[in-house]
Amino acid sequence: MTSPYRTIDCGSLRSQDAGSQHKLCGWVQSRRDHGGVIFIDLRDRAGITQVVFRPEEAPQASQLAHSLRTEDVISVFGTVSKRLPGTENPKLPTGEIELVANQLEILNRAEPLPFPLDERISNEDLRLTYRYLDLRRKEMLQNLHLRHRICKIIRDFLDRHGFLEIETPILSKSTPEGARDFLVPSRLNPGTFYALPQAPQQYKQLLMVAGCERYFQIARCFRDEDLRADRQPEFTQLDIEVSFIQRDDLLSLIENLIREILAHTHQHQISTPFPRISFHEAINRFGSDKPDTRFNLLLHDLSDIFTSSDFKVFRNALDSGGVVKAINAKGFASITTGQIQALTELAVAHGAKGLAYIKVENGEWKSPITKFLSSTEKESLRSRLNICDGDLVLFGAGQWQTVCNVLGRIRLRIAELQNLIPSDKKLHFLWVVDFPLLEWSEEEAKWNAVHHPFTRPKTEDLPLLDSEKFSQSRAEAYDLVLNGVEIGGGSLRIHEAQLQEKMFNILGISPEQQQQLFGHLLRAFRFGAPPHGGIALGLDRLIMLLAGAETIRDVIAFPKNNRGQELMTGAPAPAEPRQLRELAIASTVPPTLRK
Ligand code: AMO
Ligand code: AMP
Repeated sequence: MTSPYRTIDCGSLRSQDAGSQHKLCGWVQSRRDHGGVIFIDLRDRAGITQVVFRPEEAPQASQLAHSLRTEDVISVFGTVSKRLPGTENPKLPTGEIELVANQLEILNRAEPLPFPLDERISNEDLRLTYRYLDLRRKEMLQNLHLRHRICKIIRDFLDRHGFLEIETPILSKSTPEGARDFLVPSRLNPGTFYALPQAPQQYKQLLMVAGCERYFQIARCFRDEDLRADRQPEFTQLDIEVSFIQRDDLLSLIENLIREILAHTHQHQISTPFPRISFHEAINRFGSDKPDTRFNLLLHDLSDIFTSSDFKVFRNALDSGGVVKAINAKGFASITTGQIQALTELAVAHGAKGLAYIKVENGEWKSPITKFLSSTEKESLRSRLNICDGDLVLFGAGQWQTVCNVLGRIRLRIAELQNLIPSDKKLHFLWVVDFPLLEWSEEEAKWNAVHHPFTRPKTEDLPLLDSEKFSQSRAEAYDLVLNGVEIGGGSLRIHEAQLQEKMFNILGISPEQQQQLFGHLLRAFRFGAPPHGGIALGLDRLIMLLAGAETIRDVIAFPKNNRGQELMTGAPAPAEPRQLRELAIASTVPPTLRK
């Protein structure tokens, strides 16, 4: 490919090119004026090359170079020259040479920038407003590179394993994945709406009924939920579904895929199979269904120690069927009163009644609760939690679920405060398995599916579904966790119409609603649906963790901010009254309040 602007890119010239003539183009990264001699760092996607303008050798070009400003777009012709000894830049691959310019063409000027591109900018809204400038920064470009590379590896790997990449509709019907739907009004069918897919879940199952056997898609998903560092209203899943497969083969397929991604992008050694932990153990020991296993600080059960305690807080919790648990933050007796208070507030915000603690300093147990503890209780505590001088023990007493959740959050907070997360960039993968099938929603006063309504109950728990103990059924479901972040989830599915109807009944979906919402699926299951299962990986989250980024926004070219706005183009925006009329939609928000 020949270009009128360049003969080579800005990342390629080396000392052996000295003497040759080349044309480079790109953006002015910086300009330095050394007593009339002008140095430009010229940048394109491939790298940076230093360009020198010497007035005595190229008076016209040097004159013009005086006017260059950061991010002007130029094309320069000149001779590659070795830099003088001592002036090489070992940080640049092109650092041994420079281009001595004799012609300069200014292709376009840049106005002063709203923010410097060579610094970390904390105002993210400003970055998002000028995203095209933000993406010029090296680390952002690297993230886009990594994302491209990972998608390519995924496609090649799955192609080798017999998978078909199939697109499914964006304008579709609601699939319950636990979030609110984005709706799109239909002009041709007034008063009706498409839902943007929260995931291609039903379509991929229908593709199994269609006999595709091995499907994947790098699929855009849409969920109207509260946004966080690892949540976007539109995000990308690597969505996979396979027929005639058993769970462990699916898990090892994913492990091999991840090993391949890492081998090609990071040279990280990981061992497979990934450890597996049951949902119950994850909650019980780590206080989370996405345990961060990079550090210990485990939750210990102390209920047996306090069954006849004089300390009412513990005793009452146990008497009402609850538990007493604790974590030992080793060496953290130095915690300040303010920090204890902040931890207590965190505990209370998550449903605890308080956060009892003991600090051990100079052999003394300092705590408002020690006076209530017998010497036997203290001795049991000491040996159970291996309490030593300098330790801080934090307690939770109450219902198991609440106590685990609270201590799980305290555990993460303490890891931050104590800097417990190793900086070795090791990747801790983990499968969480044996999830419960159902969870009770206080708000809706009904049972909901923990994953989604298409998840298969464990075969040995199937009889429970017809009994009073139906809520104790476990699911053939699994989540993939990396460094405490849920990066994927999936399950074996129900493929029998009758079992699916039973599940809908348990979820309080009436037979009429079942037909209205899921009639297509129930019908399809009556025409020879194969056993099948699958998984979806949160691609943005996986790339975020592999890139070492702090939010998924940093690995998405044009993300939304935490208020769901795309600041560069200004979406969402009010619609023209004419558009609304055509769609038979009336807004209840007065025009003055529409942003
Ligand atoms: P699930 O709802 O667990 O499963 O989603 C799969 C993975 O997608 C990622 N994810 C998100 N990433 C960014 N922003 C979001 N708002 C967001 N929501 C989810 C997570 C999550 O683990 N259909 C099922 C999969 C299946 O059963 O095969 C599903 O969507 O990393
Ligand atoms: P109280 O007797 O309510 O003043 O509580 C004594 C200590 O126990 C305080 O440090 C409280 O923060 C703590 N505490 C109270 N309720 C609980 C609970 N359910 N779990 C853990 N600690 C608690």
